[in-house]
Amino acid sequence: WAESLGAKNAHIADALTGKPLEVLKQCVAINVTGDSQLLGTHDVRGLTDWLHSMHAARLDGKGLGEIAAALLTAPPAAGKTTLISQAVVLALERAELVPIVIRVQLLLTRLRGAQHDEFTSTWNWVDAYLKLVHAQQPVLYRMLRQAMMARRALLLIDGLDEGGVNRTEIERHIVEVLTQQGHIVLCTSRPAGVDAVRFSGFRRLQLAPLSDDQQREALTQRLGSAGVEALMPFVQRMLLDVETGERVTANPLVLSMVASVFEIRKGVDMPNTIAKLYESASEAMLARGGVLSTNMRTLLEAALFEAHAAQARVITEEQLYRAALAVFASSGTIAWLDQQYRADAERLPALERAVKQLTSEEREAVAAVRERVAEDKLPLLSLLQIEPLQMQSSHLSFQEYFAARAICSGKYRFHEGSRPPWQWPAFWSNAVKLGAEMGDAFGNGLIKTAGLGEVLNLSKGKLGGDRATSIAAVAQLMRGLKSLDLSENKLNANEVKELAGAIIANASLTSVNLLGNHFDTKDASMLLKVKEEKPMLRTLCGL
Ligand SMILES: Nc1ncnc2c1ncn2[C@@H]1O[C@H](COP(=O)(O)OP(=O)(O)OP(=O)(O)O)[C@@H](O)[C@H]1O
Ligand SMILES: [Mg+2]
Repeated sequence: WAESLGAKNAHIADALTGKPLEVLKQCVAINVTGDSQLLGTHDVRGLTDWLHSMHAARLDGKGLGEIAAALLTAPPAAGKTTLISQAVVLALERAELVPIVIRVQLLLTRLRGAQHDEFTSTWNWVDAYLKLVHAQQPVLYRMLRQAMMARRALLLIDGLDEGGVNRTEIERHIVEVLTQQGHIVLCTSRPAGVDAVRFSGFRRLQLAPLSDDQQREALTQRLGSAGVEALMPFVQRMLLDVETGERVTANPLVLSMVASVFEIRKGVDMPNTIAKLYESASEAMLARGGVLSTNMRTLLEAALFEAHAAQARVITEEQLYRAALAVFASSGTIAWLDQQYRADAERLPALERAVKQLTSEEREAVAAVRERVAEDKLPLLSLLQIEPLQMQSSHLSFQEYFAARAICSGKYRFHEGSRPPWQWPAFWSNAVKLGAEMGDAFGNGLIKTAGLGEVLNLSKGKLGGDRATSIAAVAQLMRGLKSLDLSENKLNANEVKELAGAIIANASLTSVNLLGNHFDTKDASMLLKVKEEKPMLRTLCGL
């Protein structure tokens, strides 16, 4: 088992080329920063040492009352999943603790699946999950269970942000059950939506952005020194991230995408925004798998949109069918089927029957996507399981990029009962960020996708969800609205500033109401100035 786990984690596939990179040698060791109590922890080795030292102390009967858990946060594609693989390889080398990797997106599918009863009847969810996943290998399951019973397991829980609608429940289980039972736990998450109070007992760590030297090192591993010399002038001209102030190539995925796009384009006409970089990169990835029909492309975009709208990462058979019906069948088909067949067991066959009624070309597109994924010839999607089908975008950020593009097209609709953009959770934050780079098309498309008109009334506390995300989404909606009422939403000075920025860049709004929020005279005079610059804007919070 150690062998197969080691083999699984010894390499990561480069997101674009699919080339395997050895996690400990080919990948740069990204700096770990944070909790000062974790002295000596500068990278994955230090972190693994600390986790093992917690176990060693317990063997000596020390630190029993202490929580042996850390939460590592870092932005999208900063290398968290890669670090987990590195930690597995290091732990296997020491052969002291038994590493158990739980990807939250996969835990989620089990938790929401047909056998969710397993989760209520065991001592913890990791056990229930392992039992389901290793149903065919009961001996392996018992070994892992033994390791947990003996508190010799190292639980590596990757991607809390991918917990979707069950995120809170999963986090509470980790904090209130797993760590209390005395397991050694390392969790990772994107920063958006992390509840600091909930994780106050955890050691908190961050992954630092790649320094200039690390960027150079990673590129050298990839392109050789001649390539680096050719690419460096371009890298140095790359945009700065608006939030971090770092160059965007400080993010490892963006850096490796820049390298790939550079190779393909031989350095000319390089993209200047992240969204454009994703466009080039996804084109290159799709081209790698052979010719793609228009229908397949449409279906791919729809499937990624459906998954994102459902706050899921894993695309199931049901989502593939839904995507096909959403783009190929007459409008209202899905809503009608959902009404007729409420039970899960009936709905899937009904969706399948409806797909069978599509034209032969459309059906072929569905079959072709399945086949290509199964043969690993659709590099944007990776296969998780053949029967029943489960696949996912090779990196969540590609799903976010395609969801944003789907929204721009204005062809799709959010399902009835899904949360509106002004109540979006942190799950949407990156898609909104990419969308913002796509221009007015995104705002206008978002209005259509959410089924809105030109007038939007969010007064009296209708803003909700993750505030940073929902405010950013509202700023995007503004691009296509005439009138917006945000009165009495407890907006603070920073939020008012962000919205004022959106108003300045806006050409369509004629009325905005910001009354009844928490801003002072300084903010009010700033708003007055904004209004003076915008003759189109007839009223701004009654000023
Ligand atoms: N240490 C590293 N050295 C070189 N490349 C790396 C490293 N870490 C990550 N990458 C590159 O960045 C990509 C994204 O990394 P990874 O999947 O680990 O990010 P993540 O933080 O888990 O992202 P997410 O928040 O979306 O889950 C990888 O596919 C790889 O190409
Ligand atoms: Mg990850």
